[in-house]
Amino acid sequence: MSADSVWAVRAASLYDLAYAKRYRAHDDEFQSSGPCREFAEWLGGVCARFSPPIDVLDLGCGTGRYFWALTGVGSLVGLDASAAMLEEAKRPYNADRIAVPSLSLIQGDLLSHRFEAARFDLVYSIGVLAEHVPLDEALVARVVEWLKPGGRFAFTTVHPASPSIPRTLSRRAGEWIEPATFGAARRNLRGRLLAGGLYADEERVHKLLDSRFAIESLERFVSEAHLHCLCVARKAGA
Ligand SMILES: C[S@@+](CC[C@H](N)C(=O)[O-])C[C@H]1O[C@@H](n2cnc3c(N)ncnc32)[C@H](O)[C@@H]1O
Repeated sequence: MSADSVWAVRAASLYDLAYAKRYRAHDDEFQSSGPCREFAEWLGGVCARFSPPIDVLDLGCGTGRYFWALTGVGSLVGLDASAAMLEEAKRPYNADRIAVPSLSLIQGDLLSHRFEAARFDLVYSIGVLAEHVPLDEALVARVVEWLKPGGRFAFTTVHPASPSIPRTLSRRAGEWIEPATFGAARRNLRGRLLAGGLYADEERVHKLLDSRFAIESLERFVSEAHLHCLCVARKAGA
């Protein structure tokens, strides 16, 4: 078994018992959050694109805030690095509306956990990739392996123009000169503006996905915390 990444270790320590309880309490205020309702609607819309039943993986499922929004599910796996969040996910929001014949919660690192190839129709991730974990080629390759041909990858990122990111002098200078750069200098500058994968904009999402997926939708979305990219992409080969 491979060791957990620095990101998983960090997440497990951040999402400790106290935070997990606060997070789960916030789930119960779901209806008062416009962005949460929109994420749920978005996820329901993604499920509706499949012929049920589907096998689903929630990457960084936390307290299972969105489990109830899934439809037509045959099996659901929730993977998270935090034991405390997973404990809360045993009693998720809207539990009485979750119609999933098989639900398993796994404590593990999404950067090293192993699933069999072509196991899932849908891999989704809300508030995790390009936020708590770098979204990069290696992560995309893992998702490609786990998806069946024609399966979908639906995820959020934090957009580098998000007001939640401190607009330091060097960030503003970098953004200003970016359009005038090219080649290695541009790659280097963009790598820094995207914080090594902790943020991702539309260009980055296309660069990572275009060779393996058809992007079905890629839009900007404002939540309580960030400006996001919201992407649904379909793996080639169905
Ligand atoms: C902001 S919460 C989002 C939880 C849930 N997706 C939601 O939308 O409510 C981020 C979650 O990602 C998990 N996480 C972060 N890094 C991870 C990693 N490397 N492997 C697995 N889970 C991770 C954290 O433990 C936490 O539960």
